[in-house]
Amino acid sequence: MNDLAGKHIVLGLTGGIACYKAAELCRALLKEGATVQVVMTAAAEQFITPVTMQALSQRTVYGSQWDPRAPNNMLHINLSREADAILIAPCSADFMARLLHGRADDLLGLMCLARPLDTVPLLIAPAMNREMWAHPATQRNMAQLIADGTTIFGVGSGDQACGETGDGRMLEPQELLDDVIAFFQPKTLTGQHVLVTAGPTYEAIDPVRGITNLSSGKMGFAMARAAREAGAEVTLVAGPVSLATPRGVGRVDVRSALDMLQAVQEKAATATVFIATAAVADWRPAHATDHKIKKDGSGSAPNLSFVENPDILAAMAQSPRGQSQALYCVGFAAESHDLLANAQAKRLRKGAPLLVGNIGPATFGQDDNALLLVDALGVKDMGRASKLVLARKLIAEIAARIKPRDKK
Ligand code: C5P
Repeated sequence: MNDLAGKHIVLGLTGGIACYKAAELCRALLKEGATVQVVMTAAAEQFITPVTMQALSQRTVYGSQWDPRAPNNMLHINLSREADAILIAPCSADFMARLLHGRADDLLGLMCLARPLDTVPLLIAPAMNREMWAHPATQRNMAQLIADGTTIFGVGSGDQACGETGDGRMLEPQELLDDVIAFFQPKTLTGQHVLVTAGPTYEAIDPVRGITNLSSGKMGFAMARAAREAGAEVTLVAGPVSLATPRGVGRVDVRSALDMLQAVQEKAATATVFIATAAVADWRPAHATDHKIKKDGSGSAPNLSFVENPDILAAMAQSPRGQSQALYCVGFAAESHDLLANAQAKRLRKGAPLLVGNIGPATFGQDDNALLLVDALGVKDMGRASKLVLARKLIAEIAARIKPRDKK
């Protein structure tokens, strides 16, 4: 992926043991296509050398506002004017206090103060001992920094270098990378609550066997991530899959279609958008036994009978909130042929305003997909791309369709 292509990030390091993670973060930013200019405080240089950061970023690392290498001797102006964002990771408690007061006695502080407020956002990833983090002074500083327009990425929890356990660790490089990528996505769904189903369901035959399908959940997880990146509160109801929960997404794990229906019904009361990507099993065994079915030696297989599962999408789309589009419902259709005709028919049968067709089951487990949008106005071919790229485009399409609803 190249989610940060064209972005120039000034990566500021301040004093803290988490500086070792900044090396990995620098690489991760570059891998996503960003260019990275590292600026370090004197305290940061106690933890990691400029040589390491220079080798990784492939650029001169700056530390002093008196550095004579800048021809105009105005590094704080030059570096801040070319940045798409300044990311301070790790940001020490001391540096937060200095930022708060607009201190400008070293290059990093000077540059943060001199940055154009409207065009160069300041993002910080705090890192400190749990007592320092919980201290009223730090909490007070943080509240004021947020009020001043700073984005604070929060902290992790767990074992700390000092031997104590609690809040205050710097987030992991991958988490910070996801947060930076999300920061740059357009916030088209702020204020929305998006409910997503994903993955297969598992319908038990007995305690050790069941029927399921090959859905990987990747499309649904990509939708949940894209909705979150767009600023929505997101609940992901996931069947049995082994995928990591996207950052900031609330997850409810379920097994069967009936479990999934129940979880969806609970969350649908407050959701404003419902996206059904799950490959829900059409049928379940009529009578799951609570003991393992044994071979009886007769050579004949057990006689299983099935009942149809409820259609979760249709139930939501045809509910009062679904019909008024207070809950805007989006379905997926995986078809092996006649994609357009089948998707159109499915849209009408389910009662969902928007149906997304894809050629399945070829898409199961793959990282890319090709989507066709069908709504009351017609058809839109979204082409082939990675599931995450398509998910972001689809979120933009959904956001445009609910705009008139929310204007009323
Ligand atoms: O009818 P079909 O299974 O092809 O419909 C696919 C769409 O309906 C998907 O959006 C899927 O998540 C949803 N669905 C559902 N509950 C079912 C069956 C399908 O929500 N029982």
